[in-house]
Amino acid sequence: MTSEQGAFREGEDRVERGALPRLEVRGVRKSFGNVEALKGVDLVVRPGEVMALVGDNGAGKSTLVKTLAGVHPSDSGTIAVDGVQVSLNDPESAVRAGVETVYQDLALCDNLDVVANLYLGRELRSPSTGALGRFLAMKKMSFEAQRVLDDLAVTLPSLRTQVASLSGGQRQAIAVGRAVLWGSKIVVLDEPTAALGVQQTAMVYRLIRTLKERGISVILISHNMVDVFEVADRVTVLRLGQGAGVFDTTTDTPQDVIGAITGSGAIATRRGSK
Ligand SMILES: Nc1ncnc2c1ncn2[C@@H]1O[C@H](COP(=O)(O)OP(=O)(O)OP(=O)(O)O)[C@@H](O)[C@H]1O
Ligand SMILES: [Mg+2]
Repeated sequence: MTSEQGAFREGEDRVERGALPRLEVRGVRKSFGNVEALKGVDLVVRPGEVMALVGDNGAGKSTLVKTLAGVHPSDSGTIAVDGVQVSLNDPESAVRAGVETVYQDLALCDNLDVVANLYLGRELRSPSTGALGRFLAMKKMSFEAQRVLDDLAVTLPSLRTQVASLSGGQRQAIAVGRAVLWGSKIVVLDEPTAALGVQQTAMVYRLIRTLKERGISVILISHNMVDVFEVADRVTVLRLGQGAGVFDTTTDTPQDVIGAITGSGAIATRRGSK
């Protein structure tokens, strides 16, 4: 263990499971002017765990996610991935640390096709130049894109379809495909099923389970307790910019979680207890 990791030695998850947490957020603070959006938040996610992040409007969920995505770097606190402290000062450093964030609408470029979206910002360069080189690079990208989508059991009309014409669920699948293609360690899904119908919601659940099976950790933001108890292993509740409890979906109930969200539950006994 390096001195960098020393600060995380006390992490209860490590003691419990004998393994480093995939993500360990400790005491993260973030203010916008005089609004304190995050007032010292902790979040611990294990490898291959689906952690739901819930809380009322304005609780700080999106701010925490943007901190992890490098969009709004934290003012203070520490973040470690697999026991190594990281500085998530911009979106590139977050991607390098293995954090892929999937926003409901922002993740994809509507005017580009499926392959281009999977490779956005990371297009393969062919060693040979000219038309043949570009053709070969495109062929390789299409082949790998198809392999990842097949792997996720996602069917699309064609890899050449512009993503603007895809359904909400198919768009989510492409964004998740990016995470798999680029070897992300943590996938953050911000309200992935908010605008989806029953079948598409089932497809997103399936994708989340596939990520979990591959040992990729998932952070799922949702206001929907059915979603949360369907796919999450644990639930972290934020309330007014602070942690309000960590719950286990196998032993706790939706009512326990709702009590923590609204502040009417037994927060004091829950906080930090899991
Ligand atoms: N860019 C910003 N500038 C100023 N204040 C902000 C900014 N982003 C968030 N806030 C404030 O920070 C607090 C937390 O907001 P945040 O968006 O993180 O909440 P949330 O939990 O995602 O809520 P919701 O469920 O409504 O999406 C709110 O008081 C919000 O007004
Ligand atoms: Mg939000």
